[in-house]
Order: sequence, then C-alpha cells, then structure tokens
Amino acid sequence: MDEQERQALEKEIEQKALEIEEALRRYLPEEDCPGRVPEAMRYSILAGGKRLRPMLMRETYRLCGGTGESVMPFMAAIEMIHTYSLVHDDLPAMDNDEYRRGRKTTHVVYGEGTAVLAGDALLNYAFETALKVFDNCEVDGIPLTERYRVGIRALSILARKAGIYGMIGGQDADLEAEKAEEVSLSRLLFIHEHKTAALIEASMMIGAVLAGADEKTVEALEECASHIGIAFQIQDDILDVSGDEAALGKPVGSDARNHKQTYVTLSGLEKAVQEVEERSQRALDILKGLPGDSSFLQKLTEYLIHRNK
Ligand code: IPE
Ligand code: IPE
Ligand code: MG
Ligand code: MG
Ligand code: MG
Repeated sequence: MDEQERQALEKEIEQKALEIEEALRRYLPEEDCPGRVPEAMRYSILAGGKRLRPMLMRETYRLCGGTGESVMPFMAAIEMIHTYSLVHDDLPAMDNDEYRRGRKTTHVVYGEGTAVLAGDALLNYAFETALKVFDNCEVDGIPLTERYRVGIRALSILARKAGIYGMIGGQDADLEAEKAEEVSLSRLLFIHEHKTAALIEASMMIGAVLAGADEKTVEALEECASHIGIAFQIQDDILDVSGDEAALGKPVGSDARNHKQTYVTLSGLEKAVQEVEERSQRALDILKGLPGDSSFLQKLTEYLIHRNK
C-alpha cells in the first residue's frame, strides 16, 4: 500500500467510524436522562475511539450478505461492552490510568463509585439495546421465527464472549499475571485471546449470524477474528512501549508500571512486530478463502498492522 492509498483508506475508516458514532448516539440514554451514571456513560462512550468492533461487525454482516438494520443494535451493544471494559480497566484497582480516548478517565472525572456503576450500566444497557433486534421484526423481511433464532444465537455469543469464558476471563488472568514471577508465552496467549480477541470474535461472529451465514462460515470468521484480536493486543503492547500518547489518547508505559508481561517483554520488540504480521496474514488468508467481497475487511486488517492509535 503506497502513501496515497493509505491516506484514502484512513479517510474511509474515519468516515465509517463517524457513521457508527451517529448510529450509536441513537441508542444511548437521552442527554436529559437524570443522574450521574447516565452522564458518565455518555462521557465514556462519546469520547471517541476507533469503533473497531462495530466496524468489524457491520463489514462482516455485509460480507455475509446482510443488507438490513438488524445489526445496528448489536453494533451499539458491542461498543457499550467494550467501553465498559475500558472504564473498569482504567480503575485504580486495575491498571490505574488517568487518560483514555484523549480525555480524563471516567473515574477521574466522576469518582470511582460512579465509574464502577457506569461500567455496570453500560453492560446492562448493552443487552437492553441488543434486545431491540426483536423490535420491528418485519423490517428486514425475515420471518419472525428465523429472526428469533438468529437473534437469540447472536445474544448468546455476545454474553459468552464478554463473560468468564471471554473478556472477563482474560482480564482476570491479566490481573493474576501481574503478581506472577514468570508468565509463559502460552499463558500470555490465553490472556490476549480472552481479554481482547473474544470481543473481536463476538463482533465478526454476530455480524455473520445476523446475516444468516452457515455455521462453517461463522467458525471460519471466529478463527479469523481470533488472529486479528491477538495481533491487535500485541500491537497495543508495542504501542505501550513505543507509541505516542497524543496519537493514542492514553498513556504509554502503563504496562511496565503495572508489572505486566507482554509480547514485547517476553519476546522482544522485533519478534512482537513479526507476530503481528504473521497473525494478520493468517486472518487475511481466511478472509480471502471466503465467498463474497471482503476487500474492505482485508484492507482494515492490513491497516491495523501498522496502526499508531
Ligand atoms: C483498547 O481497545 C483496549 C484493547 C483491547 C487493546 P481499542 O484500542 O479498540 O480502544 P478504542 O475503542 O479505540 O478507544
Ligand atoms: C485491556 O488491555 C483489554 C480490555 C479488556 C479492556 P489493556 O489494559 O492493555 O488495554 P489499554 O492499553 O488500557 O487500552
Ligand atoms: Mg488492562
Ligand atoms: Mg489498561
Ligand atoms: Mg494496553
């Protein structure tokens, strides 16, 4: 990809993120909704962010032939769950970070108690929002029983990948690893796969399920997303060492401060960079093997290898 192509792609990604942001606003609590918690929810989620998970969900939905609106509530839901995970991740009891998405973290602005509740509320609101898939069931022209079947399957993926067998399980292992003398590469892989890849897997799987994809395709996309997610977290670890705070919108050096072992500390920077490329290549191979036009998803996967934020 030459410089001109990279800039055009960056614009396209930005445009898609803006569209997602607009859709997201429609599902958030109203601005005049009373209480500090709804205010803190809006503060954390409307701070920006790359909106990568809803973007992957919508593009996978399209790749699998989806043309309707049923993916929208799930796009909002996955971003709510991701945002709640960040609000809690930044708390003093976890990574203790004061900047996120270019502004003060939620607990710094609203206090720890309200930040805990805002995270809880985002998780709850995610499911309340995803359930809207059953509103206006005639919209996509999909028969009601079929809409129930795919809607419930999508909800169960969301629940499982966000929970103890997914993101929370990874965050749990991540906290435990801080206290360990040594962390093996396989343990680190477990952490990355769960704390980060799980929500990316959920995003792509849900997009596929809502579009009516068969199980084989959903499984292939789960594997593809697992590679993208692990590569994404390794790149996050790299940026924590060599990134620019202004571009990232969050502090660098957080991992070292918290005694986290990462791919960079275990294998060195060069090998970590290589691993990001290899994993992304495996994801690209899977995308290329699927029927349908995955050109944007391929470009996005390549773009993420060299992301600086
Ligand atoms: C940050 O996720 C947490 C990780 C899993 C590395 P993102 O890098 O997607 O954060 P935002 O949504 O763009 O702020
Ligand atoms: C967090 O990983 C993954 C989550 C589930 C939130 P990190 O702790 O490395 O994410 P950042 O660097 O704070 O965004
Ligand atoms: Mg963390
Ligand atoms: Mg963190
Ligand atoms: Mg990090």
